[in-house]
Amino acid sequence: MKYEAYSGKATSARGDCLVVGVHEEHRLGEQARLIDKACGGRLMGLLKRGDFSGRAGETLLLPEISGLGGKRLLLVGLGAARQYQRRHWKRALAASVAALLRTRLGSAVIALDRPEGAGLDHYTLARAAAECVGAGLYRINDLKSGRRPRPYALSRVRLGPYSASELAAARRGLNDGAAIASSAGLMRNLANLPANVCTPRHLAKAALQVGREHRGLKVRALNEAQIRRLKMGCFLAVTQGSAEPPRFIVMEYRGGKRAAAPVVLVGKGVTFDTGGISLKDPAAMDEMKYDMCGAASVIAALDLAARLQLRLNVVGLVAACENMPGSRAIKPGDIVTSMNGQTVEILNTDAEGRLILSDALHYARRYKPAAVVDLATLTGACVVALGAHHSGVMGNNDALARELVECGVRADDRAWQLPLTEDYGEQLKSNFADFANVAGRDGGAITAAAFLGKFTKDLTWAHIDIAGTAWVSGAAKSATGRPMGLLGDFLIRRARA
Ligand code: BES
Ligand code: MN
Ligand code: ZN
Repeated sequence: MKYEAYSGKATSARGDCLVVGVHEEHRLGEQARLIDKACGGRLMGLLKRGDFSGRAGETLLLPEISGLGGKRLLLVGLGAARQYQRRHWKRALAASVAALLRTRLGSAVIALDRPEGAGLDHYTLARAAAECVGAGLYRINDLKSGRRPRPYALSRVRLGPYSASELAAARRGLNDGAAIASSAGLMRNLANLPANVCTPRHLAKAALQVGREHRGLKVRALNEAQIRRLKMGCFLAVTQGSAEPPRFIVMEYRGGKRAAAPVVLVGKGVTFDTGGISLKDPAAMDEMKYDMCGAASVIAALDLAARLQLRLNVVGLVAACENMPGSRAIKPGDIVTSMNGQTVEILNTDAEGRLILSDALHYARRYKPAAVVDLATLTGACVVALGAHHSGVMGNNDALARELVECGVRADDRAWQLPLTEDYGEQLKSNFADFANVAGRDGGAITAAAFLGKFTKDLTWAHIDIAGTAWVSGAAKSATGRPMGLLGDFLIRRARA
């Protein structure tokens, strides 16, 4: 897909179809008024006849309208004019893309009035537009037999109109947004694969492939013997019940100054979480193939940094394994020793994510990082607390946590900070080991983070729980591509600060 910003009149921009927004109650925005004039009032006439209501997301394709240089006209509803906001604009954009993809049209000229407000500069909106169009183009990499669907005809999207002085910012936004969308697609593809295909070894292969595609990106994948040599006792404990060998993936992107401390991203890569001996309920257990979304987002984030050749050093660490029951599996009450020498009583084998992350977070130390951010589908409790709207942010550094929350606002991939105070850590007491891996039901998202906090002392660290945001259930079951928007904003801002 090619994204371009155009200036001048939308009616004279080149393309197969002109996309314009209409509000409810026949209210025309600036672009719609210009187009109405160009086609001799046909637009207003059609609204008055009641052919189009302007409800958010409604679309109507008009193939033959004069005065538009031969272009079709796609009307899209923007909702009430009074409350027109970024989300209505995005919804209209998504609906237009969906409508365009049902046709064989190859190019579109988008002339949707852009929402106004704090933080909605041309760069940000153009980036969001490319992300939104890119997400609309995503097709699940399903394993259905039979003929593959025909490739989409749409190959060029022009966004505007912009004044000459706005073009540069819009172009930068489109470029970054296209890269973010592409990395989100990579993440979604990995996440949507079934667990018998997307094994730890498959994740490693995908990361190594990303490494081959880019300059400045080095990738290695450690096998079980190498993980053992590192003494990652918590990680090894989780993987020991599985016949699938684990992998510890290390991705190093050098785009910044040689001596500049890197940002380290750490991903939970449980390619399937049965719960282990503390077996999960069978309902919706298939969705635990998504328990590697943190890992996929880290691999995709390194892909993004390298694709944009960001002037920043970024390291990606992924602990990848399965969590299975079996005669070799860990049992409730087992005590294991983590890489940093602390002992952990595993009271619930289903709290496995924090175990593998603890060793990966400890490994992060060797980079003397500027910041460490881990991404994990860590707790059902986070879904209870925040639902599907916000990811949960916790950590030991308020500035970093707030930075991530603000990245989420700019990227419209929102996150909310939960209070990780010392009290929560005290809930992890064990009679037999340094601490336990669970602390009861209350505050479950935060006690999980408190466990991670035992391994990130003196690091600038934040944890993002994406259990509620990384995929959707139900008829439209799929990975969402979150938190790639947030991560993209974070890396881009850090690189260009
Ligand atoms: N991967 C799950 C968390 C999860 C559950 C994400 C449901 C999305 C939907 C994690 O490994 C887990 O099982 N957590 C337990 C922790 C508990 C045993 C303390 C949970 O949330 O139930
Ligand atoms: Mn689990
Ligand atoms: Zn899990």
